[in-house]
Amino acid sequence: MNQLPWLDQVLQMDALAGMNLIPDQSIDLVVADPPYGLGKDYGNDSDKQSPTEFLNWTETWLSLVLPKIKVTGSLYLFTTWRYSPEIFVFLKSQMSMINEIIWDRRVPSMGGSTRKYSSVHDTIGFFAKTKEYYFDLDAVRIPYDEATKKARTRSIFVGKKWLEVGYNPKDVWTVSRLHRQHPERENHPTQKPLAIVERMVKASCPKQGVVLDPFAGSGTTVAACLLNQRHYVAFEINPDYHRTILNRVERIKTGGYEVMPVANRFHQGAEEPGYSNGCGQLSLL
Ligand SMILES: C[S@@+](CC[C@H](N)C(=O)[O-])C[C@H]1O[C@@H](n2cnc3c(N)ncnc32)[C@H](O)[C@@H]1O
Repeated sequence: MNQLPWLDQVLQMDALAGMNLIPDQSIDLVVADPPYGLGKDYGNDSDKQSPTEFLNWTETWLSLVLPKIKVTGSLYLFTTWRYSPEIFVFLKSQMSMINEIIWDRRVPSMGGSTRKYSSVHDTIGFFAKTKEYYFDLDAVRIPYDEATKKARTRSIFVGKKWLEVGYNPKDVWTVSRLHRQHPERENHPTQKPLAIVERMVKASCPKQGVVLDPFAGSGTTVAACLLNQRHYVAFEINPDYHRTILNRVERIKTGGYEVMPVANRFHQGAEEPGYSNGCGQLSLL
């Protein structure tokens, strides 16, 4: 497999041109975190398009990427509420929608707009090529703590496999955005937390499978692949960010990379097993 010239490479080029290098049906998982159409500065004009241009460009790159996905493959797409309706309608015409995941960025409550509610989440679409999509729930289950296990001693819970192996993550993922002082932080304005991308990679790409990231940024997907024995191919158009990724790869390969313990990376809240039902009681899972 390593004979393939694009495999395990981070290529400094426009992802749309780069799709020519990749054979159809060769990718297990796409993790796509493109410019959001919100005018962010990535050292180029990639996020400075009008809404119509942005949506046309989105359909163009998606149309190039989707044929690369295997029949058992899937796609996670980071976006926001502003464009998720249009993008998801397009994707639903090509794929099966499995989940809408909400990334709660744990934004503190501080003022904000007086004309609307403060937006504190990103929207992530999870789509599969076919109903035969690969999904390894056991790889991402969340273990119950001893206190919860003990509390579940009623007969209906005894011997339940899920009590031992942990529960299924919910579709609201509460992970703090990366602050400047965070050990994981690279020099990139919209770097995603590794915990989020690692969960996608572990659940949706088999070991030694291949993950494609068309908009690699600081290389979070590449890091998740290296740390979890998956192959990757990644594109990043900005040469400075490309260097950042290569540097991150080097640190991982030489063992000089600091990763927070898994248990500390997802916060409780909607993810905890017996989330409060608002009536002062714990609901039963
Ligand atoms: C939202 S950021 C990705 C952040 C990344 N997920 C991370 O965790 O660091 C989007 C990236 O796409 C890059 N980009 C924009 N247009 C591109 C294109 N046509 N081809 C490749 N990369 C592109 C930008 O330079 C930016 O770094």
